[in-house]
Amino acid sequence: MAEQKKLLRALAGETQDVPPIWMMRQAGRYLPEYRATRAEAGDFLSLCYNPELATEVTLQPIRRYGFDAAILFADILLVPQALGADLWFVTGEGPRLSTITTEADFAKLGPVSDIHETLNPIYETVRLLSSALPAETTLIGFAGAPWTVATYMIAGRGTPDQGPAHLLRRENNALFEALLARITEATIEYLSMQIKAGAEVVKIFDSWAGSLSGEAFEKYALEPCRQITEALKQRHPSIPVIGFPREAGDKYVGFAKATGVDCVALDNSVDPEWAAAHVQVDGCVQGNLASRHMVTGGQELVDDTRRIVKAFGNGPHIFNLGHGITPDADPDNVQRMIDAVRDG
Ligand code: CP3
Repeated sequence: MAEQKKLLRALAGETQDVPPIWMMRQAGRYLPEYRATRAEAGDFLSLCYNPELATEVTLQPIRRYGFDAAILFADILLVPQALGADLWFVTGEGPRLSTITTEADFAKLGPVSDIHETLNPIYETVRLLSSALPAETTLIGFAGAPWTVATYMIAGRGTPDQGPAHLLRRENNALFEALLARITEATIEYLSMQIKAGAEVVKIFDSWAGSLSGEAFEKYALEPCRQITEALKQRHPSIPVIGFPREAGDKYVGFAKATGVDCVALDNSVDPEWAAAHVQVDGCVQGNLASRHMVTGGQELVDDTRRIVKAFGNGPHIFNLGHGITPDADPDNVQRMIDAVRDG
C-alpha cells in the first residue's frame, strides 16, 4: 500500500519533521489564473456551481505550489441558498441574502431533504477532483458552522459584530434555535454527501465563533460542532474532521476533546507557543500565520513562519494561515512561506 498522505498522517496524530501545508482561500483572487477562470464563469456563484471550472480553480494552487491539500471550491453560503434563501454577491462588498427574523421568514425555508437538488453540482466537483488530484494531495470538503451561517441568514449580509444574530438569539430564542437546528441538520447531510463523493477530510468553518462567550459559546459553537462531528463519524467512521472556531481564544483549550474533532484550526491571534502547550496537547492543530505576511513579505514572513513550525514541531501540525489569503497578496510571498516551511 502506498504511504499515507502527509495531511492524513498529521490528522492521525503523527509528528512530522516537515508539516503538511495548505492555505485557506488558496484558490482566490490573488492568483491571475483564478481571476481568468472566474471571468470565464461570469460571476462567483456561477463558478461555484460549474463543476469543470470549480475543479479547475481548485487545482490551480496545487499546480502552482504543490500544496499537500486541495480544498473544494465552493462557499459556506450555498447551504442557506439550498434551503431556499435568496443569495447574491455584490462586487466589492460581499454576500447578500434574504433575511430571517420572523417565523414567517423561517417558514419559507425548504426541508433539508431538498438541499441536494441545488447542491448536486458541488458533489460533482468533489468527484471530478478526487480523480484529478495528484496521489499525494488530500481533498478537503467543508461547510460553515451553524452559528456562522446563521449570522448571515439572520442579517442578510456580513456584519462587524453579528449584532442581528445576537439580538434574535435573545429576543426570539425559540426561532433562533430552530434555525440553528435546521442548518445543523442540513450541514450533516451536505458534508456526508461530500464524503461519499470523495472528500477525505471535512472542515467546519465557524468564522464568528469568537463573538460568542460563556454558555452561549458552548450551546451555539461547541455543541453544533459536536453534533455534526458525531453524526459524520457514525456514518463514515474514519473521516477526520477539522474544527475552526475562529477567535475562540482560551476557548480553543479543550475544544477538540469536547467536540470530537481530530484537529483544531487556530487563527493568528493566539501565540503558537501558548497553543502548543494548551491546545496541541490534545492532538493535531492547524495554523496559524497571519495572512498579512502574504501582502508584506520580507524577513518577518520567514521569521514568523519558522517560529510557528518550531513551536508546533513536537506534535501533529498542519501549517496554514490564521485566516484566508487576501486578494492583494503577492503570489511570490506564498512561495517564500512554503520554502520556509519545507526547507527551514
Ligand atoms: O478556502 C478556499 O479556497 C475554499 C473555498 C472557500 C470560499 N469561501 C471561496 C470564496 C471557503 C472555504 C469559503 C468559506 C467562507 N465563505 C467563509 C468562512 C471562512 C472565512 O473566510 O471566514 C465565509 C464567512 C464565507 C462567506 C463569504 N464568501 C464572504 C463573506 C465572501 C465575500 C468576501 C470576499 O472575500 O470577497 C465570500 C466570497 C468568496 N468565497 C470568495 C471566494 C474565493 C471571493 C469571491 C470572488 O471571487 O469574488
